[in-house]
Amino acid sequence: MWQEAKVIARIDWNHQLFTLKLSANIAPFIAGQFIKLSQHIDGKRIVRAYSLVNAPSDDYLEVLAVSVEEGQLSPNLQALQVGDSIDISTKASGFMTLDELPQQGRDLWLFATGTAVGPFISMMRTEQPWQRFEHLVLVYGVRLAADLAYYQELLALKAQYGDQLKLVLSVTREQFDGAMNCRIPTGMAAGEIEDKAGLTISPESSQVMICGHPEMIKTLSAQLNERGLVKNLRRAPGQITVEKYW
Ligand SMILES: Cc1cc2nc3c(=O)[nH]c(=O)nc-3n(C[C@H](O)[C@H](O)[C@H](O)COP(=O)(O)OP(=O)(O)OC[C@H]3O[C@@H](n4cnc5c(N)ncnc54)[C@H](O)[C@@H]3O)c2cc1C
Ligand SMILES: NC(=O)c1ccc[n+]([C@@H]2O[C@H](COP(=O)([O-])OP(=O)(O)OC[C@H]3O[C@@H](n4cnc5c(N)ncnc54)[C@H](OP(=O)(O)O)[C@@H]3O)[C@@H](O)[C@H]2O)c1
Repeated sequence: MWQEAKVIARIDWNHQLFTLKLSANIAPFIAGQFIKLSQHIDGKRIVRAYSLVNAPSDDYLEVLAVSVEEGQLSPNLQALQVGDSIDISTKASGFMTLDELPQQGRDLWLFATGTAVGPFISMMRTEQPWQRFEHLVLVYGVRLAADLAYYQELLALKAQYGDQLKLVLSVTREQFDGAMNCRIPTGMAAGEIEDKAGLTISPESSQVMICGHPEMIKTLSAQLNERGLVKNLRRAPGQITVEKYW
């Protein structure tokens, strides 16, 4: 169940948002899946899930995390230095993957708050979404511009894929050039997200993945339900696939 992963590199995006690159031999995974990291804290095994950010073909693992005040594991993860070790699950799991989407829809909409951009970065690092969808729209919501992890990589992807990639940023606690200054559901209700993307969400044209803050997922899913989109289930294909982070 557990093996040791070694920290081989880290990126500090700001004083509490960080990326760890890990060396570990886990079973092959699919972009969008998560692993579990674990430590014994005060004699108890604490286990938490983290989405993989690296492409499945990379020879290292990568996770993006935020240190949550009063959290049990995340402050310890932030304290890990290169050379330190952490327990990791031997295989990844999760169903928020492109393989789980039905073969319908022209555009792929990816909605994330905070660290939940990670699994979408992993997908965008593979060929699969670019070959399958006419457009990818990444809607990425953070509090402050300094919380926009992987921003430079996103700009590079935009330069590489041009009009195929639409980047819609939501920065809620300050003004940021080109970004919305409201939460994702507010931007959806106002039509601002679709305006910025230059595309309309519909059951016929769209597949939607939503990841991160549970309240954002709940509100946005209800908005999409009103527009005729329904949850994607194996037994009943739909358009909405979600992963809640807590
Ligand atoms: C499937 C899945 C994938 C996940 N992937 C990631 C990931 O890639 N990166 C990551 O940082 N976390 C991720 N999480 C959350 C992660 O498992 C931990 O909950 C988080 O790191 C906090 O752990 P903790 O023990 O410090 O605090 P916890 O006791 O687990 O959480 C305390 C509180 O912190 C808040 N919180 C938890 N996670 C986050 C977060 N990511 N961003 C903002 N607030 C949060 C919530 O209010 C939560 O109730 C994922 C969770 C799930 C279920
Ligand atoms: N002390 C600090 O300076 C500081 C700073 C950042 C993070 N943190 C820590 O990091 C954690 C939060 O991480 P985070 O900022 O990455 O994640 P977050 O709190 O989930 O915020 C990410 C984005 O989601 C939005 N959001 C929050 N609630 C929502 C809702 N109900 N519906 C729709 N959107 C919603 C936020 O908007 P709003 O801005 O409107 O909430 C923000 O734009 C906290 O638990 C805290 O421990 C601390």
